[in-house]
Amino acid sequence: MSTAFTGARQSTQVRQSYLAERVQNLKPSGIRKFFDIVATMKDVISLGIGEPDFNTPERILQAGIRSLQNGETHYTSNSGTLELRRGIATYLEQRYGIEYDPNSELVISVGVSEALYLALTALLDPGEEVIVSTPCFVAYQAEVILAGGIPVEVPTLEDDDFQIRPETIEAAITPRTKAILIGFPNNPTGVVASKKCLLELQDIANRYDLAVISDELYDQLVYGVPHVCFAALPGARQRTLLLGGFSKNYAMTGWRIGFAAGPSEMIQGLLRIHQYTIMCAPTMAQAAALEALTSGQEYVDQMVDEYNRRRELIVGGLNQLGLTTIEPHGAFYAFPKITIAGMDDEIFAQMLLEEERVAVVPGSAFGLGGEGFVRCSYATAYERIEEALHRIERFMRRHG
Ligand SMILES: Cc1ncc(COP(=O)(O)O)c(C=O)c1O
Repeated sequence: MSTAFTGARQSTQVRQSYLAERVQNLKPSGIRKFFDIVATMKDVISLGIGEPDFNTPERILQAGIRSLQNGETHYTSNSGTLELRRGIATYLEQRYGIEYDPNSELVISVGVSEALYLALTALLDPGEEVIVSTPCFVAYQAEVILAGGIPVEVPTLEDDDFQIRPETIEAAITPRTKAILIGFPNNPTGVVASKKCLLELQDIANRYDLAVISDELYDQLVYGVPHVCFAALPGARQRTLLLGGFSKNYAMTGWRIGFAAGPSEMIQGLLRIHQYTIMCAPTMAQAAALEALTSGQEYVDQMVDEYNRRRELIVGGLNQLGLTTIEPHGAFYAFPKITIAGMDDEIFAQMLLEEERVAVVPGSAFGLGGEGFVRCSYATAYERIEEALHRIERFMRRHG
């Protein structure tokens, strides 16, 4: 026997799995499973999609094309182009009155998805806990686990209009808690967090010295209420990673541009991981994102007006059918309660799809607090929503 292998595990057997335990234990996304079924069906009206149905506005598109034609086909700085970082810093200052140094306090990422991964990987030591306010974007818990941490779900409830109840967050804190992860305007409830709740949350984070990761990807998609930027609250900046991006506001999901803003020490930590894993976000997409900041507001306003029209249609329609739906003030989701149909949310979604060819997403896919609800996206044409409501009405006549 060669001495080089003394003490090493040797076996003639093949392992059952070469995957790491934390990956083996990761549950597949409830949304993915569902859409695999939808993809095999005809004549489906999908209220399940979590992205704008609009194409990227023309001027933004042209900026991306121009960038390629100008030979911008190389890497950028790891943190992203200075122009885009400056553009985002100006945006955050003008919109929320919060200042970030584009040289050291901002990193451009491949969507908020990557920013979230970077944030959690940079912040967590193995076994540290992250309090995750649910229902929430499906990736939150999975990304905490992938980063070696433990997600601790704290549900928001319909009785509280799906607003965070700060005392429930405080009650979930243990000596292992490192951070709180929130996402408002919320996917899937459409709720915009109240300033009062966020101020109380900030007070808790302060008292227990916790980091806060605030995913504000839908910050411009609000209807009649202001979005409060968590990092801009008094005293919050030094412990907050603000995540934002272009996917939803500007209908740019496929371009894959997001960002993280925060204190230099945190951002430099994220950057260390980003430079070894990703290198930089796509160059032409950064040019398109800069154009979005420069000339995109008019398009955003038009899209928000149209989302608002659809929002009123779907929320009114669902409530009329007895599917109680709180008024969502942000993003493009309605979150009706479906318990009146006498079935759980997974069965409801499955039967609605099979019987009426309408796709919605079971609320339980979004974590605790989502059971008994389904997510209906109104990022689809007005007429399609009207037709979907007719179909749901027929379904409820049989099952209500
Ligand atoms: C709340 C939230 N955060 C993050 C993401 C990921 O967005 P992206 O990686 O396209 O920026 C999504 C996508 O649906 C989302 O809903």
